[in-house]
Amino acid sequence: YTVDLDASDISKGTYEHYMLKEIDEQPNVMRKISQNYLNDDGSMNIEPALLEEMKKADRLYIVAAGTSYHAGLVGQNIFEQVADVPVDVELGSEFGYHMPKLSKHPFFIFLSQSGETADSRQVLVKVNELKLPSLTMTNVPNSTLSREATFTMELLAGPEIAVASTKAYTAQIAVEAVLAKALGMAKGLDDAKKFDVKKQLALAANGIQTIVDEKETIKKLTADFLTDQKDAFYIGRGIDYALSLEAALKLKEISYIHAEGFAAGELKHGTIALIEQNTPVIAYVNDGVGASHTRGNIQEVKARGAHVLVIASQKYAEAGDQIIIPEIDELISPIISVVPAQLIAYYASLARGNDVDKPRNLAKSVTVE
Ligand code: G6P
Repeated sequence: YTVDLDASDISKGTYEHYMLKEIDEQPNVMRKISQNYLNDDGSMNIEPALLEEMKKADRLYIVAAGTSYHAGLVGQNIFEQVADVPVDVELGSEFGYHMPKLSKHPFFIFLSQSGETADSRQVLVKVNELKLPSLTMTNVPNSTLSREATFTMELLAGPEIAVASTKAYTAQIAVEAVLAKALGMAKGLDDAKKFDVKKQLALAANGIQTIVDEKETIKKLTADFLTDQKDAFYIGRGIDYALSLEAALKLKEISYIHAEGFAAGELKHGTIALIEQNTPVIAYVNDGVGASHTRGNIQEVKARGAHVLVIASQKYAEAGDQIIIPEIDELISPIISVVPAQLIAYYASLARGNDVDKPRNLAKSVTVE
């Protein structure tokens, strides 16, 4: 098959690397998703048959790998709160071989930028054998996972060339939010009515822009925090925990700094042993329920010498926090709050002279199990 590509989609233009270009494209991706799925009169362009099928589900199973798996962890919260349905998020590489006991009426969502990941596909093959309904959310409409699932939704992020995924992650969260809203509305839920996804995607576009406009500050912070470091920790609670996993993965993939994403409260149960003088800890404070406890965890690591960088939402920011995340619904806040982590990874990789777009040992799409 052929895919129509606009030359500007696959050219680097004035950018030195695809990754930075793709980070910068994210506000536009948010607008595109909004324009494509959300109409001015409040109606939504989602296949009615998909919503009918999802309404029957007693549990959603999100199956994915890598960055897409992390987008699934963010989506879990959104679907549970906006569409009132329990969600499991599963790694294809585990789920395919150790399939848990399924609920009575499962519905599967495959998240995949490429639509070709073999680990996810082998789960879909089994799901089809069991004649269970499924949806693939992908950036590549004619991909294998897209063709083999019952339904498909496009991420509309445009071609993502850099191996480290950026705009596909934020697009996945946005499309999950759109679908959760549509499902919740189809169920007549108040929580869905309250969730103004159109407004939130507009806030997301503006918020991302604010962060990318602060590139030079983030570049400098990265130099202050990560030069000559071997390890780094990202911590957060709730929505920030899901985000921390992605933030750490980005850093590992392209800077080769050993990074871990941690539930802030879990650090003290073992890993805090690794904190020494000057260990970089990047703490997220966007989650309202977790905010004050995370502040406590920040004090704990500081007391042990950690060099702490705080990324906090306007609402929970305190004097001294280095990066402030503009206003957005907490549920989808990772769409904005991942961007500093993407930029930190980018600048750390650049400073080390690594091949930013083609990191060692990694492939853009992994078609072996
Ligand atoms: C590869 C890529 C990752 C990506 C993962 C899942 O390992 O290097 O960046 O997150 O595959 O890819 P998918 O195309 O299924 O989202």
